[in-house]
Parts: sequence; C-alpha cells; structure tokens
Amino acid sequence: MGQFLTLSRAARLVGVVRGVLQKRIREGELPSHDGMISIADLVRAYPDFDPVDSGAFERVARIKEQAFGRRVLERMLPSSEVLAQRLFAQGQELADLRRHLRRYHGLVMGLQAHLRALHESTSLSPDDDPLLLQIMHYVDQELAEVLGSNDPPDNIAVLNDVLKIMSAHVTVRPSGREFFVEGHDTLLKAGMSAGLMLNYGCGNGNCGLCKARVVSGEVRQVQHCDYVLSEAEKQQGYTLLCAHTAVSDVVLEALEASGPADIPEQRIVAKVKSIAPISAQAADTLLLHLQTPRSNRLRFLAGQNVTLGLAGGQEDFSATYPVASCPCDDRNLLFHIHRDTQDSFAERLFARAVSSGEAVSLWGPWGDFVLRPPLNDDAGRPLLFLACDGGFAPMKSLIEHAMSIEAAESIVLYWAATLPAGHYQSNQCRAWAEALDEFSYVPLLAEDAAAAGRKAVDAVCADCAATVDTGGLAAHDVYIAGPEAFVVAATAQLTAAGMPRAQLYSTVL
Ligand code: FES
Repeated sequence: MGQFLTLSRAARLVGVVRGVLQKRIREGELPSHDGMISIADLVRAYPDFDPVDSGAFERVARIKEQAFGRRVLERMLPSSEVLAQRLFAQGQELADLRRHLRRYHGLVMGLQAHLRALHESTSLSPDDDPLLLQIMHYVDQELAEVLGSNDPPDNIAVLNDVLKIMSAHVTVRPSGREFFVEGHDTLLKAGMSAGLMLNYGCGNGNCGLCKARVVSGEVRQVQHCDYVLSEAEKQQGYTLLCAHTAVSDVVLEALEASGPADIPEQRIVAKVKSIAPISAQAADTLLLHLQTPRSNRLRFLAGQNVTLGLAGGQEDFSATYPVASCPCDDRNLLFHIHRDTQDSFAERLFARAVSSGEAVSLWGPWGDFVLRPPLNDDAGRPLLFLACDGGFAPMKSLIEHAMSIEAAESIVLYWAATLPAGHYQSNQCRAWAEALDEFSYVPLLAEDAAAAGRKAVDAVCADCAATVDTGGLAAHDVYIAGPEAFVVAATAQLTAAGMPRAQLYSTVL
C-alpha cells in the first residue's frame, strides 16, 4: 500500500501552501483519499520537485517571520531528548520494515526454488505443463528486475522522513485543524503560531486552562508547571499544552475559541518596550510596542481592540485602539497611535510623557471585527481587505492571522490614504506581496474618506472583472475598516454592486 500524507505535510514537502493543493484537488489534478494524499500522486503532480530546493517552504516561512517581525533564530532543532526519541521511533520503524523485507525476500526465493524443484522432479515436457513454466518464468523475471533495479530514492518520501525528525505534526479534534511543532516550542506556542485559538490562561503552567487530552501520540514535558492534574485526568491522557511538546505525531482533543464570546475580559499591566514614529514620513503616527509579563499575556482575536490607560496617577488618560499585531505573539502587542487632540492618551504619548519601561494598563479585548472561519474544512473564500488611513491597524492583525492559518487562497489589501504620508507601513505590505504569491497590495490615494471608500470599491470591481477565475465579487469575503464615511461609502457601493451583506464585515475607527 502506498504511503499517505496529510494535506499540511504534503504542502510543506513540496514547498506550497495548503490552499494550492486544495485548489489542485478541487480541479481534479491531484487525487485525495479521505483528505490524504499519496506520495506517488504528489510526485506525479510535482514531477519537477527538487529536494535541493526543498527549502522553498522554509524560505517563505522565514520571509513571513521577518515580515511579521518575529525572531528567526527561534527556529531551532528540538531538544536532544526529543530528537533521540524521534530517531528511536524512526529506527524502530526501519527495523520493522527490514524484518518484513527479509521475510518477503525469503518467501520469494523459497517459491523460486520450490518451483524449480517441482519442475525438475516431473518428467512432463513444457508443452504438458505450460502453467508451471509460466509461473517459473514470471518469478525469475520479476526477481531479476527487483534485484537489478537501480531506481533513485523517492525524494519526497526521504524528505518526509527527515521532516518527521525535525518536527511533529499535530491534529486537533474536533476542529480538525493541524499544525507542526518545531524546536523547543510547546504545543500551545506552536498552535498559536499556526493561528489556532486554543484555550489557555496563564501560559505558564499555573491555571490548568490549557488542559487537553492526548488521543494518540507521545508528548513530553519541557516547561515547569505548578498545576497538578488529578490521577483520573492523567489516566485519561490529559496534558497541559503550555508545558509539553510533541515527541511523535499527535492527535489532541482540545478546546478552541470559536469567536469573541469565548475570550474572557482581562486586565493586565504591561510595560512600554518602545515608542517611536512609525516611519520617517509619518511623524503623526507612533508605533507603540507593549510587552506583557510572561505569566500574564493578553489573549485576543485578530482584529479586536483593547483599552490602554496610563498607570501611576495618570489613570484619566485612556483610549481604545485596535491591536495591530498577530495574536500568535500574545506577549508583544503593537499599536498605531495617531495624533488626535480629542485623544488624551495619544496626546500624552506625543508629548513624550511616557517612555520605555513605564507601565501601561490594558483592558479587553473588545469587538467582533474578527476573521470568520470557513464553513467547512476547505480554504475559505478569497479575502478582500479595504482599509482607510488608520484602518490599516486591525487589518494588519487580520492579515497576519489569515496568513498564519492559510485562511484563503488569495488575500488582497486595498489601503486608501487621505494624506500622502497615509500609507505609513507600505514597506511591510510590499514585503508580504513579494514573499507570498497569495497576497496582493493595492495602495490608493483619495481626497477624503468617502471618496476613498468609492475609489477602493471601484478598484475591487475592476480587479474582479479583470480576473477570470475569481467567481466575481460575491465569491469573496470583504472586511472594511476606517473612518465612518469610508465604511458607509464602501458598504453602499459594494452592496449596490451585488455583494451579499452577509459577506461584509466592518469596523469604524
Ligand atoms: S495556560 Fe495556564 S496552565 Fe497552561
């Protein structure tokens, strides 16, 4: 029987995202068997696969990480204990295969000798016993072919074995979501980096909220934890995701947030890590980087807001902002703060009344401007993000999250600015577009927010009309963020163009 791979592992092996394989399956170019792909079919679909260039996936992942501002050096080998256990498991598998192979070889050689002896012991002529001769001839021929074969090893299968040592594959039930655990990552960290909304609290082994059941596979403790699982829980296979890593491929039964209602309100005191103008051209926008304590991180969904307030007798200075970073890094939170005389918190920051190391209180998260999960296991509808001015902040969080979970086959960001310096993170958007085939960036300029809304929708309609296989406007999900006039104008024009309201999500900033 051929070897089968999950979609995630197959995509990783040939250096493409899952959406690309899903598209090829839908179009009948790649057979799938109960959601699995055989190595033989994968080799047929990617005949030019070059193992020397098999770093394609890693290269894209690295560019993604650089684009997202994460530390590339965190991608490391697992600990020596985990490596030893994985190598041992591979060794066992190999020994098992060798044993089977020796038995089959002995069986065929025995059959060959038996047939010869039978033939020699009989006095019948070949014409009298054609069946015996035919079988003898077949066995001799097949054996000679197998023993004389010089076929090169199957590169995808070889790479798959290497990948099994470098990383473990995790499937979460009941959602069916998958992710890989690499380096020293815990199950929780790896799951969050892959964009899963796993249930957790302290992230530090104290609260027990990340409890999950290991259905199959082996996990190993890599972080200290004070929370004690009961004997009954241990018997049932429960583990703490924040303190354990996967040694082998693992199937977990775990709770995941399905929407904003599943995320509890939190109060955290974070520290200012840095505060500076977001770019040389945009002096009226600051990039505020807050870092939460290790044991008290902010759990939020991409696109949500939090309220920030100054501590130390300055509690009156507070305001609510969208988080402009991915929930996959729940410790490092980024905010785009725009100069606004009505915003006392922003005024304090622009007046340099707050500096690195100071405490900032944080409440939240709030809001339901979050990515809607696809209705089935397939990739979701292509995504269109329409932002105006500071509406880019929640979009950035949504885009990073959508890329992490490979939420859609294509993502297009239309960012309309009402000032020439309004595209304050254009470099970031261009870096995504250069690194990822599935992402496109369209910067636009308009005289005011309402005109920006109309202009963005005109660009969307023109692009949909120009692209043959997009299925038209109604085949997309559209997210809109910006000033009220922008959201109103864009929504009105999109619905007039036939966009179903149920596929439109918006937030006013
Ligand atoms: S998140 Fe608190 S124990 Fe794991």
